[in-house]
Amino acid sequence: MNLFLAPIQGMTVACYRNLFSKFFGGIDVYYAPFISTADMDKVNPVLLKDIAAENNKPEVKVIPQILSSSGTEFKLFSDAIADMGYNEINWNIGCPFPMVTRKKRGSGILPYPEMIKNVLDTACSGSYTVTVKMRLGLDSPEEGLRVIEILNEYPLGGVIIHARTGKQMYAGNVDLDSFEALSSACKHETTYNGDIFTHNDLIRISSRFPHISNFMLGRGALGDPFLPSLIKGHIVPEGSKMSLLKEFHDELFSYYRSVLSGEKHLCDKMKEFWRQLSFHTDKEGKLLKKIKKCYSSADYLAAANQILCSSSMWSDSPVR
Ligand SMILES: Cc1cc2nc3c(=O)[nH]c(=O)nc-3n(C[C@H](O)[C@H](O)[C@H](O)COP(=O)(O)O)c2cc1C
Repeated sequence: MNLFLAPIQGMTVACYRNLFSKFFGGIDVYYAPFISTADMDKVNPVLLKDIAAENNKPEVKVIPQILSSSGTEFKLFSDAIADMGYNEINWNIGCPFPMVTRKKRGSGILPYPEMIKNVLDTACSGSYTVTVKMRLGLDSPEEGLRVIEILNEYPLGGVIIHARTGKQMYAGNVDLDSFEALSSACKHETTYNGDIFTHNDLIRISSRFPHISNFMLGRGALGDPFLPSLIKGHIVPEGSKMSLLKEFHDELFSYYRSVLSGEKHLCDKMKEFWRQLSFHTDKEGKLLKKIKKCYSSADYLAAANQILCSSSMWSDSPVR
C-alpha cells in the first residue's frame, strides 16, 4: 500500500514536508500545494521556490501540482518544473473554491470535458508524466464519469479522486458509490482520497476497494501525524508522542519565525496548524480557543506549551 500526503495550501509547504518525514514518516509521496498559472506568459521563479531542490530534502519524494485551465500555461510551467529535475506533474482539477471554479479552473472545469481535452492535448506533450487530482464532479458524479472517459484517452501516470463533488466543498459525506463508479471506469491507476481520519477508516475503505493500493491523506494526517506510520505498521509509544510533536512544532515555529514578518502573521500561521491538530490534543477545545486569542509569540508559546509539555494530552481517537 502506498500513502500520499495530500497538498494543503498554506500548510504542507517544503519545511512542513521535510519535518513530517523527519519526525513521523509513513508517507511515500508528498504532493506540493498547487502553483497557479493564471494568465501568465512567463514563469515567475518565486512560484517555484517551494519545490526548489535547496528547500526540499532529497529523501522526501515530492510531486509538484499545477492549477490551470490553459494547456499552454500548464506546459510552460511544467517544462520549467521538469528542468528542475521533476518527472511528474499533477494537474489540480479538484479545487472547490468559487473564486477558482468561476473561472473554470479546479473543479470548475469538470463540467467541460472539451476544455479538459484541449488542456491535455498540450499538457501531455512534454518530457514529464501528467497525473490528475480531481473531484467526483463540480455538481454531480455524472460530470466526473464523462471526464474519466476523456482522461482514458491520454497517457496519464494516474488519477487521484477526492470522493466528493466540488459543490460539497469539504462538508458532507464522501460518496463511496460514486468513487467506485469512477475508479472502475478509469483505466489509469487510481488513488483514493477523502476523510481518512483513523486507521479504521483506512481499513474500511481499503477493504471495500481491494483493487486500490494508493491512498491519499490530508486533514487526517495533519491532525494525527502518527497515522500514516501506524497504517504502515509502526507504532509510536504513547508516552513519546507529545515530545515528538513538540520537536516538530518547535522546528516549524522557528522556520515560520524566520520567514514571516510580524508577530500576528506568525500567530495566524500557527493557529492553522492547531486547527487540525487540536482534534487529538485538546478534548474540549479550550486550549485552541486560548491559542486563537494570541497575537504575540510569547503568549502563543505559553498557550501551545500547555499542550505540548503535557505527555497526557495526546488522544489517538479524534476527541471532538
Ligand atoms: C485548507 C486546504 C487547502 C487545500 N489545498 C489543496 C491544494 O493546494 N491542492 C489540492 O489538490 N488539494 C488541496 N486541498 C484538498 C486536499 O488535498 C484533499 O483533497 C482534501 O482535503 C480531502 O482529503 P482529506 O479528507 O484527507 O483531507 C486542500 C484542502 C484544504 C482543507
